[in-house]
Amino acid sequence: MAFMFLRETIRTYRERDPAARSWMEVLICYPGVHAVMWHRLSHALWENHLYLLGRFSSHIARWLTGIEIHPAAKLGRRLVIDHGMGVVIGETAEIGDDCYLYHQVTLGVARTSSGKRHPTVGNNVIIGAGAKVLGPIVIGDNARIGSNAVVVDPVPADTTVVGVPARPVDRKLPRKQAGFDPYGMPCDDSLDPLMRDLEGLRVEMSELEARVARLASAQAQQKPRQTAAE
Ligand SMILES: CC(C)(COP(=O)(O)OP(=O)(O)OC[C@H]1O[C@@H](n2cnc3c(N)ncnc32)[C@H](O)[C@@H]1OP(=O)(O)O)[C@@H](O)C(=O)NCCC(=O)NCCS
Repeated sequence: MAFMFLRETIRTYRERDPAARSWMEVLICYPGVHAVMWHRLSHALWENHLYLLGRFSSHIARWLTGIEIHPAAKLGRRLVIDHGMGVVIGETAEIGDDCYLYHQVTLGVARTSSGKRHPTVGNNVIIGAGAKVLGPIVIGDNARIGSNAVVVDPVPADTTVVGVPARPVDRKLPRKQAGFDPYGMPCDDSLDPLMRDLEGLRVEMSELEARVARLASAQAQQKPRQTAAE
């Protein structure tokens, strides 16, 4: 199960982050992957009433990744936390599937209260760097929150909000853009997928070239040893 989550998460990073070049790079260099995988453990401990252990586990993850996720928070599948440093996700926060968060995002409390006090984020939502989403508000599916926005009101589905306090920008996202745009920016559809595929092929080719070169040099080193042994 954990392996399935890890595989799915890594695949999502590779699909969505233009900077993610290889499976191994995502596995070892992306704190968002480590934080989300670690959260699965902390959350399981919390759900089994091991509150202190869950809290301590999430504290270690924070120490290692710079990303603070309360063990009670509910995270959907294929969540990407890009860069990650300074992200805070509070105790009663909920995040749907396929969301994308940048560094310094806070899903926090607006006013001190008990019970549900953190946001509920829908599916396929992008939250820009430094944005603060505060209080038990709902962020609708496919919404986009601009970097450094402070969101204190609910955001309807398919809406982009920016500013402090965050207000909708003047246009709704066309339905087609329910797919993912890196940085929340609509792309030139005629160009971008092709360029990304070409870039992917170029990277794969240079990895293969490096592999062949390594194999050739290993083989060349082995030959003199074999000759000497004969
Ligand atoms: C909010 C966002 C998704 C909007 O993208 P967009 O749909 O292309 O929108 P536009 O660039 O056309 O901007 C629409 C309006 O919002 C304003 N705006 C855009 N982003 C803004 C922001 N973060 N804060 C304040 N205003 C912003 C623009 O100036 C423009 O205003 P105008 O209509 O008065 O000219 C995008 O600007 C954004 O913030 N993405 C997150 C990027 C990020 O966090 N990157 C981190 C990478 S490490």
